[in-house]
Amino acid sequence: MTEYKIAVIAGDGIGPEVIAEGVKVLNKTAELDGSFRFDFTYFPWGCEYYLKNGRMMAEDGMEQLAKFDAIYMGAAGFPGVPDHISLRDLLLVIRKGFDQYVNLRPVKLLKGAPCPLKDVKREDIDMIFIRENSEGEYAGDGSFEKVGTPEETAIQKGIFTRKGCERIMRYAFELARKEGKSVTSISKGNALNYSMVFWDKIFAEISAEYPDVETHSLLVDAAAMFMVKDPKRFQVVVTSNLFGDILTDLGAAISGGMGLAAGANLNPERKFPSMFEPIHGSAPDIAGKGIASPLASIWSAAQMLDFFGHEDWGRKVISSIEAVLVDGAPLTPDLGGAAHCEEIGNAVVQKLVSM
Ligand code: IPM
Ligand code: MN
Repeated sequence: MTEYKIAVIAGDGIGPEVIAEGVKVLNKTAELDGSFRFDFTYFPWGCEYYLKNGRMMAEDGMEQLAKFDAIYMGAAGFPGVPDHISLRDLLLVIRKGFDQYVNLRPVKLLKGAPCPLKDVKREDIDMIFIRENSEGEYAGDGSFEKVGTPEETAIQKGIFTRKGCERIMRYAFELARKEGKSVTSISKGNALNYSMVFWDKIFAEISAEYPDVETHSLLVDAAAMFMVKDPKRFQVVVTSNLFGDILTDLGAAISGGMGLAAGANLNPERKFPSMFEPIHGSAPDIAGKGIASPLASIWSAAQMLDFFGHEDWGRKVISSIEAVLVDGAPLTPDLGGAAHCEEIGNAVVQKLVSM
């Protein structure tokens, strides 16, 4: 029996509610399969922990996490702790510290999911975003200069390395080649005359290594427009950290909303644990009401199953989510229903059992 050791950081706000449902689904896949099991260890890190201890995670937090096969994360951030602390000192530390340089985010309109776009078929929205997740605009370097003077200035450095660009682009091309899809690079070389000119240059080089893969290059502003006007032109998409952040929220908006937006932070070499987390935040406004949708965190759990090589179960979990959406009930308020988070998790489990 294979045992997967999972570190759970349910985190803040709706994090614990939605993660509980994902854990339920993961345990059910293990039970139904019989050849693997999960061992979950819960870490109380997040904003509450910060308010008590002055830090977002234990001092040796990264050492503790390093021993696990994966991290399952809910959400971080809550009023009372500045966002740049709650996120930089937990989420971003983990992404960077464990070299989770691939942020893999499906933007796929599932059967039964609502779409606000006109004249778009469900199959037209089926993209996979490969967001660079370790550097770029999120490098965290910069300074405040001339503070308190009229010339006060903030400098935020974007750091784009050859290694960082090459590896994320190769990841996108390998995936595209495997799945027979095109790759679209999204950048902004016309305005960002160092970072994005560099990105485009490296994209041209890496494309040449994959002559069998169809490629496209778009400026980020045009890409945002096309995602709404003509989403079917996107298949595998590779882009920088910030652009990927923004465009995947747009992706969520056209494919059922934030309650259905899943993500995985991968260290493909498996030197460090990868982290699976829904794209949505802690949603303090609805926290504790039990009305958050757990579908995004359940979908992220399906990505974890894929990563462990259980793609069959990953697919079944997605099909179970679809089956619940197609039934149209139970659904949480974001999808027009009145059901509780827990009922959705139970419904997905029921579908899984009858699959
Ligand atoms: C995301 C989030 C984070 C990001 C924030 C919370 C730092 O928006 O995962 O998309 O920008 O990466
Ligand atoms: Mn985001």
